[in-house]
Amino acid sequence: MKTINTLLSFCLIIFLSFGCSNNQNQENKNDNMYEQKIDALIAKMTIEEKVGQMNLYNGFWDATGPVPEEGNAKTKYDHLRKGWVGAMLNVKGVKKTRELQKIAVEETRLGIPLLFGFDVIHGFKTLSPIPIAESASWDLEAIKNSARVAATEASAAGITWTFAPMIDISRDPRWGRVMEGGGEDTYLGSKIAEARVIGFQGDHLSDVNTIAACAKHFAAYGFSEAGKEYNTVDISNNTLYNTVLPPFKAAEEAGVRTFMNAFNDLNGIPASTNEFLQRDILKGKWDFNGFVVSDWASINEAIFWGQAKDKKEAAYLASKAGSDMDMEGYVYINELVNLVNERKVKEAIIDDAVRRILRVKFELGLFDNPYKYCDEAREKAIIGQKSNYDAVLDMAKKSVVLLKNDTQLLPLAKSGKRIALIGPLADDDNSPLGSWRLASDDHSAVSVYEGMKAYNGNKLKYEKGVDLYIGKTAFVNEVNINTTNKKGIKEAVRAAKNADVVVMVLGEHGFQSGEGRSRTNLDLPGLQQELLEAVYKVNPNIVLVLNAGRPLTINWAKENIPTIVMGWQLGTQTGNAIAQVLYGDYNPSGKLPMTFPRNVGQIPIYYNYKNTGRGSNRKNNVFWSHYSDVENTPLYPFGYGLSYTSFEYKNLKLDKSVYTANETVKVSVDLKNTGNYDGKEVVQLYIRDKVGSITRPIKELKGFELVELKKGETKTITLKLTKSELGFYTNHGKFIVEPGDFEVFVGGDSTADLKTSFELK
Ligand code: BGC
Repeated sequence: MKTINTLLSFCLIIFLSFGCSNNQNQENKNDNMYEQKIDALIAKMTIEEKVGQMNLYNGFWDATGPVPEEGNAKTKYDHLRKGWVGAMLNVKGVKKTRELQKIAVEETRLGIPLLFGFDVIHGFKTLSPIPIAESASWDLEAIKNSARVAATEASAAGITWTFAPMIDISRDPRWGRVMEGGGEDTYLGSKIAEARVIGFQGDHLSDVNTIAACAKHFAAYGFSEAGKEYNTVDISNNTLYNTVLPPFKAAEEAGVRTFMNAFNDLNGIPASTNEFLQRDILKGKWDFNGFVVSDWASINEAIFWGQAKDKKEAAYLASKAGSDMDMEGYVYINELVNLVNERKVKEAIIDDAVRRILRVKFELGLFDNPYKYCDEAREKAIIGQKSNYDAVLDMAKKSVVLLKNDTQLLPLAKSGKRIALIGPLADDDNSPLGSWRLASDDHSAVSVYEGMKAYNGNKLKYEKGVDLYIGKTAFVNEVNINTTNKKGIKEAVRAAKNADVVVMVLGEHGFQSGEGRSRTNLDLPGLQQELLEAVYKVNPNIVLVLNAGRPLTINWAKENIPTIVMGWQLGTQTGNAIAQVLYGDYNPSGKLPMTFPRNVGQIPIYYNYKNTGRGSNRKNNVFWSHYSDVENTPLYPFGYGLSYTSFEYKNLKLDKSVYTANETVKVSVDLKNTGNYDGKEVVQLYIRDKVGSITRPIKELKGFELVELKKGETKTITLKLTKSELGFYTNHGKFIVEPGDFEVFVGGDSTADLKTSFELK
């Protein structure tokens, strides 16, 4: 037992992880070669021109948020010519970016080039899997490469800045935006954040095929109450420091050049006007020297939150809080000059914001050549080139998670079988593109039907069964989900009767997740459950391929269907990827980055929960932390995923049993491929800090490695734990490492029970 005194006296190291950054990836950040040029430029700027740099306008076609009254092309062109615009978003294609850049460079007084921002969330024109799917690969190299490919295409289309990666940790699959992130875990999320930032920004921001990244949404948007979009966020410092902020810190340390704030409030202060988040933490303790952009008109929303009485006050609060650029909100451009003239906002605040924005423009090389991203020949050569299709196919296969294969229905034989392919999403070439695909062509995905047809040794019969939605698909709302038309079920049943194996592709449409798509029911939408059960009655040899941007509650399927594959929305190459997995040309190795609940009532549900004072049923009575109607365990745990082969973990060892805080704990385990296929396994390392001055989670992921093994092969895997993995943040944001006993678990998912322990002195 530790007393407070021993804790204090033994408290080993308090290193200001929130206070210092020391990392080689900060090349751009520490590079002050532009500072003199920036100073010289700022000295020439009028206050209107300075505020202009802080103004970001949407382009003239696609809007990714509600368009304000002022948001017409005439105003925008007029402001552009006056030098009142620093950046634009949703402008795509070199022809258009060149035209607008020309106005900025040749028609304004100072000729400051524009930034062109875009939501390059999972690819540009050629789409990779939605981010949560990519995260299921746990393959950091592949994820980095996917961002690299996206940056290469986007930069060729004139884009210089992506509003990605989205690194909001979320434990609530009701929230539609979980599709955009890395899932529920802070450690995995931090690694993915870093991989994506490096992928987008490359080695040098000035290279023509790299773009500035944006860590969003700062912060805690993923904790929107009840999973309802744009909702309030009320979380403890414990959760903020230990769960929400580390991925943002990882992005900052990886050199991300911009941050985006968020639509939510955090403990009563809207994120866009939140001085604590933006000034104290980001620009203060973390010493971030890029710039912060607001979310779409989020500064104005301080009015609706009831924090600001009007636009002027909103502009005042946001600029003071450290929001450097106003996205399509018209509050900075309309209010800031007056606020400065009235001496309500210090010019130094404006200068600081402008300096940050200009710094990124310099780093991108836009002052050397404002048209460097406006090369039509490059655009033609790069967009849609074959290597992009190959890369997204590779990423798509790596993202598939095999949830169940009890009767070894998979892999499918390549010939001699009658296969019925059933389900509304099976021949859909639009839904697999997922949400956030503004630069890709509609209906440009390879459907599962097309992918499977390429394996033409089998007889393949397709039946839709039911429609998922009624009418147009642009916005699939719960109101246009088909709940009445059952006509196709009979034909589907007939096809199933005449088949050896049935492949059913069911789930959510690509537009049922994403921004503005929170749901309270996570069952298969519409009549799909009825279709599944009707088919099961006549032929239980079903492979269920689930499509979704989030975990779904598929209890009946788990209970009854022998084979389940989590196929997410895998982008342009969806059908080819799924077919290669189903027919065994690719052995799946994905692992869930988010817990699958048994029902919505269990949410929020996550693997690294607290034990509570009554975490188990010690006395065999009702007084322990549980529900009366459903067990505590999830349907599928975090980190879970199967392979066509099987793995055995043995000989978990540490190099010592007692360590000091500056020593590295070396954890080794033997992993054997015990099945009949070559395969890959994500070896996961979890720890439990047994006693802490702040209650510690029951388990925390602190390491992983993707290991490839031939059948029959054994490898010894060594993973390391250092003080960064063993410590945690206090409620005041200090990182500490406390002495005491730790348990170490290694295995293929978060329920890993192969265990050992050590003491930290
Ligand atoms: C989203 C951001 C996005 C922005 C611009 C907002 O509605 O929350 O994530 O980058 O629109 O499209």
